Amino acid sequence: MTSISLPDTMTAIAIASPGGPEVLRPVRLPVPVPGEGEVLIRLEAAGVNRPDVFQRLGLYPPPPGAPETPGLEGAGTVVALGPGAEGFALGDKVMALLPGGGYAEYAVAPAANCLPVPDGLSMVEAAAIPETFFTVWTNVFDRGRLKAGETFLVHGGASGIGTTAVQMASALGAKVFTTVGGAGKIEPLKALGAHRVIDYETEDFVEVIKAETGKKGVDVILDMVGGDYVQRNVACMATEGRLVYIAFLKGAQVDVNLMAVMLKRLTITGSTLRIRSVAEKAAIAASLRENVWPLLSSGRIRPVIDTVFPLADAAGAHARMDDRGHLGKVVLSI
Ligand SMILES: NC(=O)c1ccc[n+]([C@@H]2O[C@H](COP(=O)([O-])OP(=O)(O)OC[C@H]3O[C@@H](n4cnc5c(N)ncnc54)[C@H](OP(=O)(O)O)[C@@H]3O)[C@@H](O)[C@H]2O)c1
Repeated sequence: MTSISLPDTMTAIAIASPGGPEVLRPVRLPVPVPGEGEVLIRLEAAGVNRPDVFQRLGLYPPPPGAPETPGLEGAGTVVALGPGAEGFALGDKVMALLPGGGYAEYAVAPAANCLPVPDGLSMVEAAAIPETFFTVWTNVFDRGRLKAGETFLVHGGASGIGTTAVQMASALGAKVFTTVGGAGKIEPLKALGAHRVIDYETEDFVEVIKAETGKKGVDVILDMVGGDYVQRNVACMATEGRLVYIAFLKGAQVDVNLMAVMLKRLTITGSTLRIRSVAEKAAIAASLRENVWPLLSSGRIRPVIDTVFPLADAAGAHARMDDRGHLGKVVLSI
């Protein structure tokens, strides 16, 4: 291993037992050692994502071999290189899609799952990028095959995923619709590039989509809600539409009439990022670097930061996620 001088231990956040935000507690852990093809990053910031909330609740355990410490993304400086780690040098500023372990002063990542921090972005902004950008790219553009000139609906527009999907899809030439809970979230989502923001508390998204598209429906939907949204999504999709699932906040067990799937030749698909191989994530990283990094460098798209909490107050960050008042990303400053 090649490294600068490192401490033996670090502060990290542990989940004391499944429960509310208060179970997130600072602890001392050994500084991790990078293995084959991995880098060690001294983190300056780490993003908070809904999957971390499910992990805290005991509903989403880390896959085998991943750190118990929560945290799927971060940004910082490369301070050690494992054997065979390529593409980065000691001192480089990177953002990383992590297998876990982001709520800590140091984290290990495969070098192939790191990306350079584009000029003009703060480390807090950089830390808020990997999990949602990788997820949106692979689901909306790889699986959903969204193209310029098509129509796109993303539910949960105010989420980290939603704010990313709205910006990326509109910057790449799609006409974007999104749903949010509450009128206060409408104008900020329009400013990010949404053509029409639907407040589901007062409007029926199926009716709005039909009216806005001349009854044609949308080409691609990214859904994290599930439940009764499944049938309603099918109802407002265009012929040859693609419905992509990344979560089921209202439930995965549904009773659906599939007739329209056949008649409209729809595709229903989905994926989860965390369990995919380092090589698959590296391929997504390469696509992002080619297609999205120029948009980040030019400032055309930018991660939306809701609130920044110190690492020691990870519990406060999770309380913010739990109250669902956030718009964009909650980030830990380290
Ligand atoms: N498949 C994958 O690889 C993958 C990767 C990352 C994230 N995800 C999933 O994508 C979703 C968004 O992640 P995120 O980190 O961007 O989340 P987030 O910022 O916490 O946003 C979730 C949003 O969903 C809306 N929502 C609707 N019903 C909800 C419910 N029953 N409980 C909580 N929120 C609800 C809320 O907005 P309103 O109040 O406006 O409705 C909330 O802001 C999560 O479900 C997450 O698990 C999947």
